[in-house]
Amino acid sequence: MSTTAEPGYAPGYTTTTHHEFRTAHNSAAYLLLTLEELCATTTNPTLLDVGCGSGTITASFATLFPNLHITALDLSPEILTRAKAHADKLGVSDRITFKSANVYDLVASLGDDTKFDVVHAHQMLVHLSDPVKAMQQLLSVAKFGGWLACRDICMRTFTFYPDTEILQSWTRLQLATHNASGGSSNAGASLGAWAVQAGASRKKVKLGMGSWMYASPEERKVWGGTFRDRIISGSMRTTALELGIASEAEMDEMAKEWERWMANEDACSGSLHGELLVQK
Ligand SMILES: C[S@@+](CC[C@H](N)C(=O)[O-])C[C@H]1O[C@@H](n2cnc3c(N)ncnc32)[C@H](O)[C@@H]1O
Repeated sequence: MSTTAEPGYAPGYTTTTHHEFRTAHNSAAYLLLTLEELCATTTNPTLLDVGCGSGTITASFATLFPNLHITALDLSPEILTRAKAHADKLGVSDRITFKSANVYDLVASLGDDTKFDVVHAHQMLVHLSDPVKAMQQLLSVAKFGGWLACRDICMRTFTFYPDTEILQSWTRLQLATHNASGGSSNAGASLGAWAVQAGASRKKVKLGMGSWMYASPEERKVWGGTFRDRIISGSMRTTALELGIASEAEMDEMAKEWERWMANEDACSGSLHGELLVQK
């Protein structure tokens, strides 16, 4: 099995605090009914979480479903250490196996005979240059009758209050730099098409849309801080400068706008996510 070359996870792992807000309820609600039925009717149900990152959704699945056994994979051993620490803190790490692997090499990494009742990926495909090839691997490791569950963002749907020109420019810059780094900013709306291209039966593809809204002071601090930091020193700034699509001064102004957004008690930010369920 050959590995498709990837630049890695373009945003990097220094600003992942915003990932740690994620739980099964706020980021995988579309899958909970399926998991409830599975866990009520199956002995030793299994879930594979690919691109688990800091693992807060993973650990949340384990907390909600005490008989669920989870394998959590990520490209980065560094982030897996954080995910394991989080699972330890919640007392669920005895039911989670953490492993570093590349989604493109999933079948080879897990072994031909290893299949799961549910294969889950949240906000991973959006970062990949060949999401269809990745989905082929995800589908291959689901049991016959098992499920593929993917949720991914539609980056163009970021919306804000206050709806300022500077935040709109920031959104356009985020789209351009994300796509230039090899990702697919329209991943959320593409999930169904990618699943069919990866070999799923169209009749079995179920699509939905879910949302996030960040409005509390704590949420504003974490999200505004992440977006400010990405534009001050992250790969978004470097890529924008390489592409010549924003100046240092324009990006410094965007960082200040995020500071103003964080301090504004009325401010909020929302986004939409495509949700895919396929029964194999
Ligand atoms: C936006 S984070 C999402 C993490 C987690 N699923 C969540 O929603 O909190 C994307 C994760 O995908 C991982 N990733 C990116 N490319 C990958 C690949 N080719 N194989 C496996 N994991 C990958 C990154 O290391 C990163 O941790």
